[in-house]
Amino acid sequence: MKRACVIGWPVEHSRSPLLHGYWLKKYGIDGAYTKEAVRPEAVADFLQSLEANGFVGCNVTVPHKAAAFAAADEREASAEAVSAANTLWVSGGKLVAANTDTYGYMTNLGQQAPGWDRRDAPISVLGAGGAARAIVHGFLDAGVGEVRVFNRTRARAETLAGQFGPRVKVFDWSEREIGSRDSTVLVNTTIIGMNGVGTLDIDLAGFDRECVVSDIVYVPLETELLRGAKSQGLRTVDGLGMLLHQGVPGFEKWFGVRPEVTDELRRFIVADIEAS
Ligand code: ATR
Repeated sequence: MKRACVIGWPVEHSRSPLLHGYWLKKYGIDGAYTKEAVRPEAVADFLQSLEANGFVGCNVTVPHKAAAFAAADEREASAEAVSAANTLWVSGGKLVAANTDTYGYMTNLGQQAPGWDRRDAPISVLGAGGAARAIVHGFLDAGVGEVRVFNRTRARAETLAGQFGPRVKVFDWSEREIGSRDSTVLVNTTIIGMNGVGTLDIDLAGFDRECVVSDIVYVPLETELLRGAKSQGLRTVDGLGMLLHQGVPGFEKWFGVRPEVTDELRRFIVADIEAS
Protein backbone atom coordinates (compact mmCIF):
# COMPACT_ATOMS: atom_id res chain seq x y z
CA MET A 1 0.00 0.00 0.00
CA LYS A 2 1.31 3.46 -0.90
CA ARG A 3 1.27 5.98 1.93
CA ALA A 4 1.50 9.76 1.88
CA CYS A 5 0.84 12.36 4.56
CA VAL A 6 0.68 16.02 5.42
CA ILE A 7 3.14 17.42 7.94
CA GLY A 8 2.54 20.59 9.92
CA TRP A 9 2.69 22.07 13.43
CA PRO A 10 -0.12 22.13 14.27
CA VAL A 11 -1.65 19.90 11.62
CA GLU A 12 -5.05 19.13 13.15
CA HIS A 13 -6.85 21.75 11.02
CA SER A 14 -5.58 20.36 7.69
CA ARG A 15 -8.24 19.23 5.25
CA SER A 16 -5.71 17.51 2.98
CA PRO A 17 -6.49 14.03 4.44
CA LEU A 18 -10.15 14.56 3.56
CA LEU A 19 -9.24 15.66 0.03
CA HIS A 20 -6.78 12.86 -0.73
CA GLY A 21 -8.94 10.31 1.09
CA TYR A 22 -11.82 11.24 -1.20
CA TRP A 23 -9.67 10.71 -4.30
CA LEU A 24 -8.19 7.42 -3.03
CA LYS A 25 -11.69 6.07 -2.59
CA LYS A 26 -13.02 7.49 -5.84
CA TYR A 27 -10.22 5.94 -7.91
CA GLY A 28 -10.18 2.67 -5.92
CA ILE A 29 -6.51 3.04 -4.99
CA ASP A 30 -4.96 0.94 -2.26
CA GLY A 31 -3.35 3.87 -0.50
CA ALA A 32 -3.43 5.94 2.66
CA TYR A 33 -2.98 9.61 3.50
CA THR A 34 -2.48 10.67 7.11
CA LYS A 35 -1.76 13.74 9.24
CA GLU A 36 1.64 13.87 10.94
CA ALA A 37 2.27 16.49 13.61
CA VAL A 38 5.99 17.28 13.28
CA ARG A 39 7.74 19.82 15.49
CA PRO A 40 9.86 22.46 13.71
CA GLU A 41 13.09 21.02 15.11
CA ALA A 42 12.18 17.56 13.81
CA VAL A 43 11.26 18.41 10.20
CA ALA A 44 14.67 17.71 8.62
CA ASP A 45 14.93 14.29 10.31
CA PHE A 46 11.36 13.40 9.45
CA LEU A 47 11.91 14.20 5.77
CA GLN A 48 15.29 12.41 5.63
CA SER A 49 13.57 9.23 6.77
CA LEU A 50 10.35 9.71 4.78
CA GLU A 51 10.97 6.70 2.53
CA ALA A 52 12.39 4.56 5.34
CA ASN A 53 9.19 5.25 7.26
CA GLY A 54 7.12 3.91 4.39
CA PHE A 55 5.94 7.15 2.74
CA VAL A 56 6.04 7.85 -1.00
CA GLY A 57 5.76 11.56 -0.32
CA CYS A 58 4.00 14.27 1.62
CA ASN A 59 2.38 17.66 1.67
CA VAL A 60 3.86 20.35 3.85
CA THR A 61 1.89 23.02 5.61
CA VAL A 62 2.60 25.95 7.92
CA PRO A 63 5.23 26.49 9.29
CA HIS A 64 7.39 23.91 7.48
CA LYS A 65 7.38 25.05 3.85
CA ALA A 66 10.80 26.73 3.93
CA ALA A 67 12.36 23.86 5.92
CA ALA A 68 10.98 21.35 3.42
CA PHE A 69 12.47 23.35 0.57
CA ALA A 70 15.85 23.28 2.33
CA ALA A 71 15.66 19.56 3.12
CA ALA A 72 15.03 18.42 -0.47
CA ASP A 73 17.71 16.85 -2.68
CA GLU A 74 16.14 18.28 -5.84
CA ARG A 75 13.76 21.18 -6.36
CA GLU A 76 11.40 21.85 -9.22
CA ALA A 77 11.25 25.36 -10.70
CA SER A 78 7.89 25.93 -8.96
CA ALA A 79 9.62 25.60 -5.57
CA GLU A 80 12.77 27.48 -6.57
CA ALA A 81 10.64 30.46 -7.62
CA VAL A 82 9.18 30.91 -4.15
CA SER A 83 11.88 29.32 -1.93
CA ALA A 84 9.23 27.10 -0.34
CA ALA A 85 7.83 23.63 -0.91
CA ASN A 86 4.39 22.19 -0.17
CA THR A 87 4.67 18.89 -2.04
CA LEU A 88 7.46 16.30 -1.79
CA TRP A 89 7.98 12.87 -3.28
CA VAL A 90 10.73 10.26 -3.36
CA SER A 91 12.22 9.51 -6.76
CA GLY A 92 15.17 7.13 -7.15
CA GLY A 93 15.99 7.53 -3.48
CA LYS A 94 16.02 11.32 -3.75
CA LEU A 95 13.61 13.71 -2.12
CA VAL A 96 12.10 16.06 -4.73
CA ALA A 97 10.29 19.28 -3.82
CA ALA A 98 7.65 21.29 -5.67
CA ASN A 99 5.35 24.14 -4.83
CA THR A 100 1.83 23.57 -6.12
CA ASP A 101 0.26 26.64 -4.49
CA THR A 102 0.97 28.71 -7.60
CA TYR A 103 -0.63 26.08 -9.83
CA GLY A 104 -3.57 25.73 -7.44
CA TYR A 105 -4.32 29.43 -7.22
CA MET A 106 -3.89 30.20 -10.92
CA THR A 107 -5.82 27.15 -12.14
CA ASN A 108 -8.72 27.94 -9.86
CA LEU A 109 -8.74 31.62 -10.84
CA GLY A 110 -8.76 30.68 -14.52
CA GLN A 111 -11.73 28.36 -13.98
CA GLN A 112 -13.76 30.52 -11.63
CA ALA A 113 -13.09 33.89 -13.24
CA PRO A 114 -12.34 33.27 -16.91
CA GLY A 115 -11.21 36.42 -18.67
CA TRP A 116 -9.65 37.90 -15.52
CA ASP A 117 -6.66 38.77 -17.73
CA ARG A 118 -8.73 40.56 -20.39
CA ARG A 119 -7.75 43.99 -19.12
CA ASP A 120 -4.22 45.35 -19.04
CA ALA A 121 -4.57 46.43 -15.41
CA PRO A 122 -2.55 45.80 -12.24
CA ILE A 123 -3.06 42.97 -9.76
CA SER A 124 -3.26 43.84 -6.06
CA VAL A 125 -1.96 41.38 -3.48
CA LEU A 126 -2.62 41.83 0.24
CA GLY A 127 0.15 40.21 2.29
CA ALA A 128 3.77 39.30 1.67
CA GLY A 129 4.19 35.86 3.26
CA GLY A 130 4.75 32.48 1.65
CA ALA A 131 1.31 32.31 0.03
CA ALA A 132 1.76 35.80 -1.42
CA ARG A 133 5.09 34.76 -2.98
CA ALA A 134 3.48 31.78 -4.71
CA ILE A 135 0.65 33.95 -6.03
CA VAL A 136 2.85 36.87 -7.14
CA HIS A 137 4.98 34.35 -9.03
CA GLY A 138 1.85 32.98 -10.72
CA PHE A 139 0.72 36.37 -11.95
CA LEU A 140 4.18 37.35 -13.20
CA ASP A 141 4.45 34.03 -14.98
CA ALA A 142 1.06 34.69 -16.57
CA GLY A 143 2.50 37.89 -18.06
CA VAL A 144 0.87 40.51 -15.83
CA GLY A 145 2.57 43.90 -16.21
CA GLU A 146 2.26 45.15 -12.63
CA VAL A 147 1.67 43.42 -9.30
CA ARG A 148 1.10 45.70 -6.29
CA VAL A 149 1.92 44.34 -2.87
CA PHE A 150 0.37 45.81 0.27
CA ASN A 151 1.70 44.47 3.56
CA ARG A 152 1.41 45.52 7.17
CA THR A 153 5.19 45.16 7.49
CA ARG A 154 6.43 47.10 4.50
CA ALA A 155 9.98 45.72 4.72
CA ARG A 156 8.66 42.23 4.01
CA ALA A 157 6.91 43.46 0.87
CA GLU A 158 10.16 45.12 -0.21
CA THR A 159 12.06 41.88 0.23
CA LEU A 160 9.45 40.11 -1.89
CA ALA A 161 9.64 42.77 -4.58
CA GLY A 162 13.43 42.51 -4.54
CA GLN A 163 13.13 38.80 -5.34
CA PHE A 164 10.75 39.25 -8.24
CA GLY A 165 11.97 42.43 -9.94
CA PRO A 166 10.53 45.73 -11.18
CA ARG A 167 7.05 44.50 -12.17
CA VAL A 168 6.30 44.21 -8.42
CA LYS A 169 5.50 47.52 -6.72
CA VAL A 170 5.38 48.03 -2.97
CA PHE A 171 2.64 50.04 -1.27
CA ASP A 172 1.88 50.89 2.33
CA TRP A 173 -0.76 48.83 4.09
CA SER A 174 -2.77 52.03 4.60
CA GLU A 175 -3.04 52.38 0.80
CA ARG A 176 -4.71 48.98 0.30
CA GLU A 177 -8.08 50.45 -0.65
CA ILE A 178 -7.13 53.50 -2.65
CA GLY A 179 -4.18 51.79 -4.31
CA SER A 180 -6.08 48.78 -5.61
CA ARG A 181 -9.29 50.27 -7.00
CA ASP A 182 -8.16 50.04 -10.63
CA SER A 183 -7.00 46.40 -10.30
CA THR A 184 -8.19 43.53 -12.40
CA VAL A 185 -7.75 41.10 -9.46
CA LEU A 186 -7.57 41.82 -5.72
CA VAL A 187 -6.38 38.87 -3.64
CA ASN A 188 -6.14 38.53 0.11
CA THR A 189 -3.26 36.23 1.13
CA THR A 190 -3.22 37.28 4.79
CA ILE A 191 -5.00 35.41 7.54
CA ILE A 192 -7.43 38.27 8.07
CA GLY A 193 -10.99 37.08 7.63
CA MET A 194 -10.27 33.62 8.95
CA ASN A 195 -12.72 32.76 11.74
CA GLY A 196 -12.14 35.39 14.36
CA VAL A 197 -9.13 37.14 12.79
CA GLY A 198 -9.73 40.88 12.33
CA THR A 199 -11.14 42.79 9.42
CA LEU A 200 -9.50 44.03 6.22
CA ASP A 201 -11.53 47.20 6.33
CA ILE A 202 -11.71 47.78 2.57
CA ASP A 203 -14.69 49.52 0.99
CA LEU A 204 -15.09 48.07 -2.50
CA ALA A 205 -17.59 50.68 -3.70
CA GLY A 206 -14.97 52.59 -5.68
CA PHE A 207 -13.47 49.53 -7.37
CA ASP A 208 -13.47 48.92 -11.10
CA ARG A 209 -16.61 46.94 -12.00
CA GLU A 210 -14.44 44.31 -13.71
CA CYS A 211 -12.30 43.65 -10.64
CA VAL A 212 -12.27 40.01 -9.49
CA VAL A 213 -12.01 39.76 -5.69
CA SER A 214 -10.42 36.61 -4.32
CA ASP A 215 -9.43 35.25 -0.96
CA ILE A 216 -7.22 32.34 -0.02
CA VAL A 217 -8.96 32.01 3.35
CA TYR A 218 -11.57 29.24 3.11
CA VAL A 219 -12.87 29.02 6.69
CA PRO A 220 -15.33 30.63 6.47
CA LEU A 221 -15.90 30.03 2.79
CA GLU A 222 -17.49 33.42 2.38
CA THR A 223 -15.16 35.87 4.09
CA GLU A 224 -16.12 39.42 4.91
CA LEU A 225 -14.07 40.55 1.88
CA LEU A 226 -15.98 38.26 -0.48
CA ARG A 227 -19.32 39.18 1.05
CA GLY A 228 -18.51 42.87 0.51
CA ALA A 229 -17.49 42.19 -3.10
CA LYS A 230 -20.70 40.29 -3.82
CA SER A 231 -22.80 43.08 -2.39
CA GLN A 232 -21.06 45.43 -4.85
CA GLY A 233 -21.80 43.05 -7.73
CA LEU A 234 -18.13 42.15 -8.23
CA ARG A 235 -16.99 38.68 -9.28
CA THR A 236 -15.53 36.62 -6.43
CA VAL A 237 -13.32 33.55 -6.11
CA ASP A 238 -13.16 31.79 -2.75
CA GLY A 239 -10.16 30.03 -1.21
CA LEU A 240 -11.38 26.46 -1.37
CA GLY A 241 -10.68 26.03 -5.08
CA MET A 242 -6.98 26.75 -4.53
CA LEU A 243 -6.82 24.05 -1.86
CA LEU A 244 -8.48 21.50 -4.12
CA HIS A 245 -6.33 22.23 -7.17
CA GLN A 246 -3.01 22.41 -5.29
CA GLY A 247 -3.56 18.78 -4.27
CA VAL A 248 -3.73 17.47 -7.84
CA PRO A 249 -0.01 17.28 -8.78
CA GLY A 250 0.98 15.59 -5.50
CA PHE A 251 -1.72 12.94 -5.73
CA GLU A 252 -0.63 12.16 -9.28
CA LYS A 253 3.04 11.81 -8.24
CA TRP A 254 2.28 9.56 -5.27
CA PHE A 255 -0.55 7.41 -6.56
CA GLY A 256 -0.18 7.53 -10.36
CA VAL A 257 -3.61 8.96 -11.23
CA ARG A 258 -4.29 12.60 -12.07
CA PRO A 259 -7.39 13.33 -9.96
CA GLU A 260 -10.23 15.60 -10.97
CA VAL A 261 -11.56 18.59 -9.07
CA THR A 262 -15.32 18.19 -9.39
CA ASP A 263 -18.42 19.87 -7.97
CA GLU A 264 -19.07 16.74 -5.94
CA LEU A 265 -15.61 16.96 -4.33
CA ARG A 266 -16.20 20.61 -3.56
CA ARG A 267 -19.55 19.85 -1.91
CA PHE A 268 -17.89 17.10 0.15
CA ILE A 269 -15.28 19.48 1.58
CA VAL A 270 -17.79 22.33 2.00
CA ALA A 271 -19.95 20.05 4.14
CA ASP A 272 -16.97 19.46 6.43
CA ILE A 273 -16.17 23.18 6.66
CA GLU A 274 -19.78 24.00 7.45
CA ALA A 275 -19.91 21.31 10.14
CA SER A 276 -16.82 22.70 11.88
P1 ATR B 1 1.71 32.39 4.74
O1 ATR B 1 2.95 31.63 4.48
O2 ATR B 1 0.49 31.53 4.94
O3 ATR B 1 1.47 33.48 3.74
P2 ATR B 1 2.90 34.15 6.71
O4 ATR B 1 4.21 34.02 6.04
O5 ATR B 1 2.85 34.04 8.19
O6 ATR B 1 1.88 33.05 6.19
O7 ATR B 1 2.21 35.50 6.22
C1 ATR B 1 1.07 35.99 6.82
C2 ATR B 1 0.67 37.32 6.15
O8 ATR B 1 -0.48 37.82 6.84
C3 ATR B 1 1.74 38.39 6.26
O9 ATR B 1 1.68 39.20 5.11
C4 ATR B 1 1.30 39.16 7.51
O10 ATR B 1 1.75 40.49 7.56
P3 ATR B 1 3.17 40.84 8.24
O11 ATR B 1 4.23 40.53 7.23
O12 ATR B 1 3.08 42.28 8.57
O13 ATR B 1 3.27 39.97 9.48
C5 ATR B 1 -0.19 39.13 7.30
N1 ATR B 1 -0.93 39.39 8.54
C6 ATR B 1 -1.12 38.54 9.57
N2 ATR B 1 -1.88 39.13 10.53
C7 ATR B 1 -2.16 40.39 10.10
C8 ATR B 1 -2.92 41.49 10.61
N3 ATR B 1 -3.53 41.41 11.80
N4 ATR B 1 -2.99 42.63 9.89
C9 ATR B 1 -2.38 42.71 8.67
N5 ATR B 1 -1.66 41.70 8.12
C10 ATR B 1 -1.55 40.55 8.82
